[in-house]
Amino acid sequence: MVIAEILDVPPVDYQRFKTWADALLAVSNLPLGAPPPPGFNEALAAERAYFNSRYQELRRNPGTGLISALIQAEEKDALSFEELAGFFNLLLLAGTETTSNLIGNGLYALVRHPKQLELLCRNPALLPSAIEEMLRWDCPVQATGRHCNKECELGGAHLRPHMAVAVLNGAANRDPAQFPDPERFDITREPNPHVAFGEGIHFCLGAALARLEGTLAIGAVLKRFATVRLADPGFVPTYKPSFNVRGLTHLPLRIDG
Ligand code: HEM
Repeated sequence: MVIAEILDVPPVDYQRFKTWADALLAVSNLPLGAPPPPGFNEALAAERAYFNSRYQELRRNPGTGLISALIQAEEKDALSFEELAGFFNLLLLAGTETTSNLIGNGLYALVRHPKQLELLCRNPALLPSAIEEMLRWDCPVQATGRHCNKECELGGAHLRPHMAVAVLNGAANRDPAQFPDPERFDITREPNPHVAFGEGIHFCLGAALARLEGTLAIGAVLKRFATVRLADPGFVPTYKPSFNVRGLTHLPLRIDG
């Protein structure tokens, strides 16, 4: 809903928007080079047709969101229609699943560490630092990709130009050279130089929004309910079958108060 509103998508279309995001993200569940999953091409075509009609509408009748602002920039030759359509698609995908998984993985980390949960409930000012630890300890994007542009040696591997390289930021977030006792979930960890949002020129554009959404959602759960715990102490998690996106398929919690 948040990213939809930012993109000038009206509430009546939120559900369709989410359905496309789910169908398009299913591609990340497949091995590289595999044909698109069922429903992928249809979702892409529907999303593209939707963007085309919203684009026409917002040109005539600008809204208050990002797409309206970018259309006005386009009129000053800043962005082409194709670039705008691609940006809409990127934000639809990057802005939905990732933040949902921060909230799910983060709550799951808390209920598995009752002492940390209790510490946080007693000291709500620790929430921003707890969110950073959730991002480090069980990050929603575990890997990203790069193309090598020059011959080099990296971690004992010989890389040649144009090679595709998978960068495992999830592993970097548990690097003992950076994080003392890296397997420990510690909401007071300081410093916490995790790379859950990547690094360099492609650093996540939505990092501030994701941090805000995570803080508000998890903060609201802890404020609203006196106790939050696993509905079943023997809960065995299942994860969405993806190479790079890490998120639970479900998280049954017992909430009281
Ligand atoms: C907890 C939530 C999120 C996580 C863990 C996350 C993670 C990442 C990571 C690791 C990258 C770098 C990819 C790379 O270097 O190849 C990235 C890029 C990006 N993210 Fe996020 N993201 C999150 C939420 C969001 C949200 C809410 C938005 C949209 C508002 C967003 C928009 C983007 C965009 C547009 C890029 C590409 C930036 C570029 O290539 O210049 N992300 N994100």
